[in-house]
Amino acid sequence: MAIQLERIPSTEALYERAVTIIKEVKAQGAKTFGLATGGTMEPLYAKLCDTTIDFSEAVSFNLDEYVGLGATHDQSYNYYMHHHLFKQKPFKQSHLPQGLAHDTQQEAARYEALLNEHILDFQLLGIGVNGHIGFNEPGTSFDSVTHVVNLTPSTREINARYFASLEDVPHKAFTMGVQSILRANCILLIAIGESKRNALEALINNEYIEDVPATALTKHPNVIVLTDLV
Ligand code: GLP
Repeated sequence: MAIQLERIPSTEALYERAVTIIKEVKAQGAKTFGLATGGTMEPLYAKLCDTTIDFSEAVSFNLDEYVGLGATHDQSYNYYMHHHLFKQKPFKQSHLPQGLAHDTQQEAARYEALLNEHILDFQLLGIGVNGHIGFNEPGTSFDSVTHVVNLTPSTREINARYFASLEDVPHKAFTMGVQSILRANCILLIAIGESKRNALEALINNEYIEDVPATALTKHPNVIVLTDLV
């Protein structure tokens, strides 16, 4: 099996390991980084900011963005990335889908075309409780490229913790597709907390089902999974 699973019960040690992996990938010449958001990534970005790692010659692409939220909205992923990483560790260029784009289909196509001009040397991934990666919800084709998704009620409810109310959570998002993600040379997925156990089990049991989007990774040759679940 291509997935390298590392179970690290101490989250402190787990994040240290993630930083080490990113440093190693960078030392090996990685210049294009796919980045993720979510609560899982906040301690990782905080740790990266405490290192001397320099991304000023690197390019980043984020996985996803809410439709309708601009860069100044504090729940946009654009804002999240500036707040947690870019203001301290700027990249040469950082790309995210534009949440306020008027023509969402055109914006998805623009982002996919931009991605196609690069090879992602590295892709960081969290995982949703329902197994989503990026915002690729259960049932998304493994052949999908960047597209607009209708967020599931459960994803909106889980993400509502960051918004004033459930009504404020956007119904749609842009996301890199499953195929866009799989084009990365190396993937690091971090799954922390009991709520991720079912999704993680499907992945490490080598299932390959579109109902659990993360299981697409089982066909990728270079995936590291870090989890605190034992
Ligand atoms: C969010 C993001 C994903 C993230 C996942 C898990 O909705 N779109 O990229 O990996 O859900 O988030 P968290 O780390 O907060 O559990």
